[in-house]
Amino acid sequence: MLQEHSDIIKASRRWYKKQVVWRRHLHRYPELSWAEHETTKFLRERVKSFGLKILPLKMDTGLLAEIKGNRSGPVVAVRTDIDALPVTEQTSLRFRSKTEGRMHACGHDMHMATVLGVAAILSERRSELNGTVRFIFQPAEEHPPGGAAPMIANGAVEGVSMIFALHVDPALPVGKIGLRDGVTMAAVTDFDIVVKGVSGHAARPQEAVDAIVTACDIVQTLQTVASREIDPVAPVAVTVGRIEGGTARNVITDKVIINGTARALSEDASRQLPRIVKRIARSVAKAHGARVDINIIPGYPVFKNHPEANKVLTRCYADMFGRNKIVTTPPVLGGEDFARYLQLVPGAMFRLGCRNTKIGADKPWHSSGFIVDENCLLHGTALLCAAVHDCLNGASD
Ligand code: NI
Repeated sequence: MLQEHSDIIKASRRWYKKQVVWRRHLHRYPELSWAEHETTKFLRERVKSFGLKILPLKMDTGLLAEIKGNRSGPVVAVRTDIDALPVTEQTSLRFRSKTEGRMHACGHDMHMATVLGVAAILSERRSELNGTVRFIFQPAEEHPPGGAAPMIANGAVEGVSMIFALHVDPALPVGKIGLRDGVTMAAVTDFDIVVKGVSGHAARPQEAVDAIVTACDIVQTLQTVASREIDPVAPVAVTVGRIEGGTARNVITDKVIINGTARALSEDASRQLPRIVKRIARSVAKAHGARVDINIIPGYPVFKNHPEANKVLTRCYADMFGRNKIVTTPPVLGGEDFARYLQLVPGAMFRLGCRNTKIGADKPWHSSGFIVDENCLLHGTALLCAAVHDCLNGASD
């Protein structure tokens, strides 16, 4: 193993306990997208204590900070998301969320603790860095159109030659990481449909236009987007996750709200989706004599990892933990606004194994029972430190 890699592992071991404390604190006090005020304060305090320079940011939450090495060189960025989800935690962890309806159920608390550890370690090793490390603490990953675009508008990736990020993965055992070149995650387009009918008495449907019946028909017909509208070799998913309407069983309602999301792994399919969703909603409503208002919310672009960044990650992880600990992850239809940075600069996000069935760390992302094996803090921290270090100090195979 390269000497600097073994030094990095030692440093990661040294910071591990601190990282667990930070992570548990963040886990206890989750904040939703665009409301990460206390989280931002916590991050700023830590980052300042490591001696990082805080960069100007015209946003209510989030943080940009830098370590300038002793010699000049490229700028390499590390990004973490910082927001939690509107989920009520149902674990028996001692440090479970203090707030009902809010939970770090996607592991962003782990991402923050990892990246804080990276900041701590690399600031200790500042004298040997040939270049700059920029830290992007990004709000609102869970809330399209997301926090990446405003971060970028604030100069987050200006001058950056490579960017890295991580995501914990409960499908991968702790100790392993997952990588994939090219398309890894889906383009996301969210949509809101408001169905407008005419209200009336439950017993006199002939005088009303039933918004519930119309909405049900729209939801059903949307199922044909994947099966009949898009080339079947291009994976897409259209899901209505929320529907709201009506006041009483004996009243025909005049309004139903449908909230859905459409995902595609190809840009071509992604471009078609809004048009098809609109056409179906309008036509089905018309068939029922109802009207619709449709709001299409452009979400995240197709997520593509750059092979040259994956090469750096592969080389570092293989050297530190063994090549047999690296797996190729399959593509998924989840979305992630790290995709926006990857449209502008080469980079990659790796999956950090956090699975451990013995402690119940095997529940899916976003579930109320989501648990991780914190030991993966060590692997994630060491890998990011090594990758940044190698990019700045010109290591290659
Ligand atoms: Ni996430």
